[in-house]
Amino acid sequence: MTYRITLLPGDGIGPEVVSAALKVMNFVAEKFNVSIQTQERLIGGCSYDKFGSPLTDEALQTCYDSDAVLLGAVGGYKWENLPHNLKPEAALLKLRKSLGLYTNIRPAKVYSAFVDSSSLKSEILAGTDFVVFRELTGGIYFGEPRGFDEEKGWNTMVYTKEEVERIAHMAFKTAGHRKGVVTSVDKANVLECSQFWRNVVEEVAGSYSSVTLKHMYVDNAAMQIVRDPKQFDVILTGNIFGDIISDIAGMITGSLGMLPSASLGSKYALYEPVHGSAPDIAGQNKANPIAAISSVAMMFEHSFGMTKAAELIETSIDKTLSQGYRTADIARKGDNIVDTEKITSLIIQNIESIYNEQALGVFTL
Ligand code: IPM
Ligand code: MN
Repeated sequence: MTYRITLLPGDGIGPEVVSAALKVMNFVAEKFNVSIQTQERLIGGCSYDKFGSPLTDEALQTCYDSDAVLLGAVGGYKWENLPHNLKPEAALLKLRKSLGLYTNIRPAKVYSAFVDSSSLKSEILAGTDFVVFRELTGGIYFGEPRGFDEEKGWNTMVYTKEEVERIAHMAFKTAGHRKGVVTSVDKANVLECSQFWRNVVEEVAGSYSSVTLKHMYVDNAAMQIVRDPKQFDVILTGNIFGDIISDIAGMITGSLGMLPSASLGSKYALYEPVHGSAPDIAGQNKANPIAAISSVAMMFEHSFGMTKAAELIETSIDKTLSQGYRTADIARKGDNIVDTEKITSLIIQNIESIYNEQALGVFTL
């Protein structure tokens, strides 16, 4: 089996974390006898600098022609004052929209070695395991009209029935083989668009009798995530609320540097770390590649149906952290601080040893 993967390393620390993730991807692919063909293209500020556009048609076409896309990060101070449509972020939005990636999945699981590294108390955190389903191609990010002049600025929050239904189905299906609870997050006490969202989600819930549906206002949800994160299983929400909620969820895991994401549509899939381009530490071999490596695990699972390969990567990340190795962003006193390349090779070593133990029948993956 050969999979074609487009690599879009992007700006800042993007190239470093994608290169780390690629090493893990190749190593694991070989173990499972699949071959990976990669093609690399520019996205974001680096693409603007070279081509005058943050995402060229040619780069987009390469994504259309591949089985999955792995993205690093986009953006940086250098491009902050460009007009909206040329900003690095515009490339990401265009990519999501063009590939039809309406479901963004951001898991908030706590690595066991990590319960003491979060800003939350370990007893509040232990056992937290939920996943955010963020709608990614609609809502206020894309609604028309939009714009600003000297006197005012405006955007439009709009959701169609179909847009709400398709992501709601994804969330309910996932909850069905997890803990069976969907919490739909909205602002229905103020926004008509949210009331509509709520009505449609209620309707979809009718087809999933084994899943419990709860509704929560977004302000309350932000509070509940830090108060009692264990109460959540699948959080279902729109584009902008999901953007905010998933950053909050990111911090309970200790660092945004740990959080992977998958963006899925009916045809294409994109995997990327939730963190940004961190231009202040770019090019210093300091970046935390775990979110990118974990995004590769999500790729194996969601795009290639290789659950065991995904588990092998996750178990190895966990083991490496348990051994006390940390990149600087997640280190505490007494930890063994290592750089991007070192933590990557440690994770690969652990993949090798867990794989071998498994082959000997010690572990069942
Ligand atoms: C994210 C980012 C993006 C978003 C930006 C960079 C456009 O914050 O993926 O969460 O708002 O969706
Ligand atoms: Mn964000």
